[in-house]
Amino acid sequence: MNETSPAIEVRALCKRYGDYEAVRGIDITVARGEVFGLLGPNGAGKTTTVEILEGYRTRTSGEVSVLGHDPAGRSMDLRRRIGIVLQAGGIYSHITPREALKHWASFYPHPRDVEEVLELAGLREKGDVRSRRLSGGQLRRLDFALALVGDPELIFLDEPTTGFDPEARRAAWETVRSLRALGKTILLTTHYLDEAQELADRVAIVKDGRVLAIGPPRELGVGASRYRVAYRGDGQLIEHETDDPTTLLYELTGGALARGQRLEELSVARPTLEDVYLELTADA
Ligand SMILES: Nc1ncnc2c1ncn2[C@@H]1O[C@H](COP(=O)(O)OP(=O)(O)OP(=O)(O)O)[C@@H](O)[C@H]1O
Ligand SMILES: [Mg+2]
Repeated sequence: MNETSPAIEVRALCKRYGDYEAVRGIDITVARGEVFGLLGPNGAGKTTTVEILEGYRTRTSGEVSVLGHDPAGRSMDLRRRIGIVLQAGGIYSHITPREALKHWASFYPHPRDVEEVLELAGLREKGDVRSRRLSGGQLRRLDFALALVGDPELIFLDEPTTGFDPEARRAAWETVRSLRALGKTILLTTHYLDEAQELADRVAIVKDGRVLAIGPPRELGVGASRYRVAYRGDGQLIEHETDDPTTLLYELTGGALARGQRLEELSVARPTLEDVYLELTADA
């Protein structure tokens, strides 16, 4: 392994729970320094995939490499280089955030300063409160802080901002951006498509254990080149879809001007990641 090899490589990954195939042949490569988003409906297989990469679940078949290791080996070297926000976190109910962070930091060779991480997670004032007395969002902030305190090079964030208030979410986004600027690799799952659009260099949309589409959020999917042009005419909203908005606008506005009219509420929009996501994941 060298520094230019991918941080994560997944080939033909399958996971079966009894008779149920939760993951049915997933291929993903995440480059070093990349923020990669895994998107998909409830039960798509995101947490299963992420926890296999973390070494928390076993796989049924396929090849997986994380920082050059097979995570199934649960090597100490690998565990010291990754940080994790589990979807179901909140393991430290009987101690305080400061104690939890100090404890967790002790497993890492070069941890970050605990006070700095408390500050970063917006938990400075709650540092000495028993965790079971924290609110849901504050507990989630502690999960996030725990993933950062080891200063790992690869961070798994499984729905890290679920339950965050809007300000805390923005703060978490800033933190992810600063981690990216430091060259860290981040694998993120989220149901907030604006979060994926803001943060991810590339996303994969997963459904029923398969990857439906993969690429930068802006370039994703079938609808990505279509523009939506809308205006109000005779009291009704009129919408057109086109991949050539220049010509369409020229015709529409030219026609309106020739009739001495205005196109009220005229707008041109590109499909958002959410539009593409809903189109791709809709049941046939
Ligand atoms: N331990 C388990 N035993 C049996 N089935 C499981 C187990 N864990 C997950 N599953 C099933 O596997 C499928 C994928 O679950 P997974 O948790 O990976 O989905 P997800 O994409 O993370 O969903 P969500 O968005 O709701 O978190 C689901 O249908 C789930 O019921
Ligand atoms: Mg999940």
